[in-house]
Amino acid sequence: MSTYKSFAVAGAGTVGLPILKALAAKSVPVILLSRAGSSAKTVPSGVQVVQVDFGDATAVATVLKEHKVDVVLSTLGVTAVAAQKTLIDAAKLAAVKLFVPSEYGFPTDGYTEGPVAAKNEIAAYLKSLNIPSTRIYNGGFIEYIPWLVDYENGGKIKIIGKGDVPVSFTSIADVAGFVAYVLTTLPPSELEDRILRLEGERSTLKDLAAQFKTSVEHVDSITSENGAFKATVQRMLESGAGSTGWDVVVQVDLGDAAAIAAVFQEHKVDVVISATLVTVQKPSVDGAKIAAAKLFLPSEYGFPTEGHPESALGTKSEVAAYLRSVNIPSLEYTQLTGSQIGVFTEYIPRIDDYENGGKFKVIDRGHVPVSFTSLVDVASFIAHILTTLPPTALEDRILRLEGDRSSLNDLAVLFKTSVEHVDSITSNHGELKTFLHGISNTGGGSSGRMW
Ligand SMILES: NC(=O)c1ccc[n+]([C@@H]2O[C@H](COP(=O)([O-])OP(=O)(O)OC[C@H]3O[C@@H](n4cnc5c(N)ncnc54)[C@H](OP(=O)(O)O)[C@@H]3O)[C@@H](O)[C@H]2O)c1
Repeated sequence: MSTYKSFAVAGAGTVGLPILKALAAKSVPVILLSRAGSSAKTVPSGVQVVQVDFGDATAVATVLKEHKVDVVLSTLGVTAVAAQKTLIDAAKLAAVKLFVPSEYGFPTDGYTEGPVAAKNEIAAYLKSLNIPSTRIYNGGFIEYIPWLVDYENGGKIKIIGKGDVPVSFTSIADVAGFVAYVLTTLPPSELEDRILRLEGERSTLKDLAAQFKTSVEHVDSITSENGAFKATVQRMLESGAGSTGWDVVVQVDLGDAAAIAAVFQEHKVDVVISATLVTVQKPSVDGAKIAAAKLFLPSEYGFPTEGHPESALGTKSEVAAYLRSVNIPSLEYTQLTGSQIGVFTEYIPRIDDYENGGKFKVIDRGHVPVSFTSLVDVASFIAHILTTLPPTALEDRILRLEGDRSSLNDLAVLFKTSVEHVDSITSNHGELKTFLHGISNTGGGSSGRMW
């Protein structure tokens, strides 16, 4: 269950108003932050409209504190993306728990230039202030398709380029319903610093012609109002970047196994090392299978997960089970079921919340040994084994590594501080830290642990 209790939506335009209504329909306290002098909005009963100066972080923070806002959702328009910075400053001042920036489009993570780079800068700004955030990628709004292909001017699907690359589209109502659902249902650990990718429909621009019962017109430019912008967006889509699974850095649709396989085949990849979010690995596994990769190292790098039924650890063991299941029809396909290495040494101040107050916060007794390994040791271990061990020592193996071994209590001595026994940790990612302490207390923090 979500622990967020109170919400503020900034801006109530095309997507903001439906989101505001969807949240209000969940019967959670929600306020609308609106600019002084902006047009009156029809909001659901019970929703308070608060006029604020978006340029005055202190004033906005006062409003957020007054309403005990946990989550700020920015839905400011595309021309006001940079104006979100002051809103973020206000969220920081008010110690808001989650900030949902104004994304609601194609993937932006990794862009340093072009039409969506400003959104990526906002994400970096949130990170720099250590404010947890959730970014939502939904592709194009279905309602905006006629605008995008300039159908509204002449009734044809105008396409720059070939228009044969799949694009994600989602209706505004579905985006709003999704946002309200995840924010009122998912635990913070599944929302903090996450990108959530959504797709209502998938179509190439060319195939839209049949839907609209019209024909395609291939053009070099679009001359109507905002035509240059439409053309820029279409060119971006032509590269594959219009799929919500698109990864800007590796230039591949991470939701599309065939596209991933093509990249593996082009580079003659033998070993796939996944270091992505656990939940998005399935298409990579399928891609590795199609490309007949010889070894797949799933994204483990933590506590032992094999056989663990719960939460994030359960998801990791599901991935391992999926790897085994696709192995059945093909004996050529093999896997290395993760190297399980406890906690990164560098994360000790984080998981014990030392960074917030200089004490070692420990849930329960904190006397059970936990394995720790530094990031550099994990990296060189993986590079070493993959380049030196024979396949028989790697296929279908679980490798367990431990750089150091210490109980949480004993770490306090190393850090020359004291232990504070607490029932829960409430700082950023507190829920995840609490969860990890729970596992450690059962002995699950040792890389030798069998479930
Ligand atoms: N995927 C798609 O196809 C698609 C299509 C359109 C938009 N989007 C994205 O959705 C997000 C929201 O866009 P939208 O079209 O819903 O926005 P919008 O309707 O153009 O504007 C939303 C609100 O932003 C506020 N605003 C505008 N300029 C501002 C400024 N300088 N300072 C503070 N507030 C300002 C206004 O609030 P008040 O006047 O009420 O104060 C306005 O109601 C954007 O990130 C946009 O890129 C995606």
